[in-house]
Amino acid sequence: MTVTLVPPPAPLPALLAPASSRPLDVLGVPGQTNLDHAASAPCARAAADAVAELLPWYASVHRGAGALSRRCTLAYERARQTVGDFFGARPGDHVIFTRNTTDALNLLARALPAGTTVVTFAGEHHANLLPWPRGSVRLPVPASPGEAVRALDAALTELRRDATTGTAVAAGGAHPAGSGHPAGPPVLVAVTGASNVTGERWPVAELAAVARRHAARIAVDAAQLAPHAPVDVAALGVDYLAVSGHKLYAPFGAGVLLGRGDWLDAALPYLAGGGATSHVGDATHEVRWAAGPARHEAGTPNLLGAVALAAVCTALADADRDALHAREQALLARLRQGLAALPDVVELRTFGPDAPRVGIVSFVVAGRDSAEVAAELAARHDVGVRDGLFCAHPLARRLLTEAAARSGRRDLPPTALRASLGLGSTARDVDRLLAALAELVGSGRG
Ligand SMILES: Cc1ncc(COP(=O)(O)O)c(C=O)c1O
Repeated sequence: MTVTLVPPPAPLPALLAPASSRPLDVLGVPGQTNLDHAASAPCARAAADAVAELLPWYASVHRGAGALSRRCTLAYERARQTVGDFFGARPGDHVIFTRNTTDALNLLARALPAGTTVVTFAGEHHANLLPWPRGSVRLPVPASPGEAVRALDAALTELRRDATTGTAVAAGGAHPAGSGHPAGPPVLVAVTGASNVTGERWPVAELAAVARRHAARIAVDAAQLAPHAPVDVAALGVDYLAVSGHKLYAPFGAGVLLGRGDWLDAALPYLAGGGATSHVGDATHEVRWAAGPARHEAGTPNLLGAVALAAVCTALADADRDALHAREQALLARLRQGLAALPDVVELRTFGPDAPRVGIVSFVVAGRDSAEVAAELAARHDVGVRDGLFCAHPLARRLLTEAAARSGRRDLPPTALRASLGLGSTARDVDRLLAALAELVGSGRG
């Protein structure tokens, strides 16, 4: 068999190397307006530098006695510490490197004690809907953050009542001694920190308080929240957190599951193989699994991904998060006001128009197919946005129906567009999208 190397069609444009090279500057390609941070954010200078610094030392992790290998092992474990500190890990928490948020939540799903009931909302990304076992409870999409809190309270009350009457499971298993709750199978609440469809923030601390009151545990999908706001599991009272490095300005392939170690140490390894064992005997099934993060990290780990993610965490920890937040909110307001001023454009939202949100907006252009609009924005204006149902089909479908009712339009398309902001986004980016949409809406009418 012969292998032909295909040359690239054209020279790659130079990477944007900002004159000032600050850790939270992001790499990009001049002329391309990337408004798709929610899918994958661009790589931060801090991540690129950390990778470049480590590359000459490239060697095995946890598997070698040589100087290079020891340095790589140290870098990997330091990255774990840095990431854990950044997200407020407590003693007893594990910080497990995964591939991404999807992987992290699947790992948690596999580590649930037998009989655990998972309670979630229909507003979740598929990554936080599909991994959970049969018998999970999916609450309807709430109309407000307050309704989410009340609905969870009611659901957990009902689960506990059913348990005491012996008809179903109880909200137990995690309750502190003396809480007065009856023992019963565990309950895990799994919610998002911020919606990937609307950017709306969910009341995580309040939901965690409700879970605690009912002796349930709570896992937060922070894939979209963490890139925009500080997240501290201890301060929020959250048991588990899942994030993706590629949404947090680090390269693809590294994510994190952080949280309480007991269930994780009691579960069978997520992946079986080298690194996850402390002893393997001669008999087929004679194996002692490791405790701690190694138990669920079989195989050679993604050193560069972990180190890059840790570098971004360090840079964000050193940054003025309030100033970053204020800047992003100003851009978001500019974007939303601009969209609202365009005829035929309808925003999608779950909560009220003023609900707190991160820099994500989904919308439709009435009478226009969203995939075609996205393709046109790319081809004619070099503007990148996402279109579709954003791996949150139940929520996106519901919001499209709601948008049709609110706007009174019968010609909304069946899928939507999403523009998302982040580090490196500018007013010019926002204005380019708005100008392109204005042209498109105008041409659509002509
Ligand atoms: C809220 C949310 N959760 C989970 C995921 C899954 O992330 P990943 O594809 O990195 O696993 C995404 C990705 O878009 C997301 O937006």
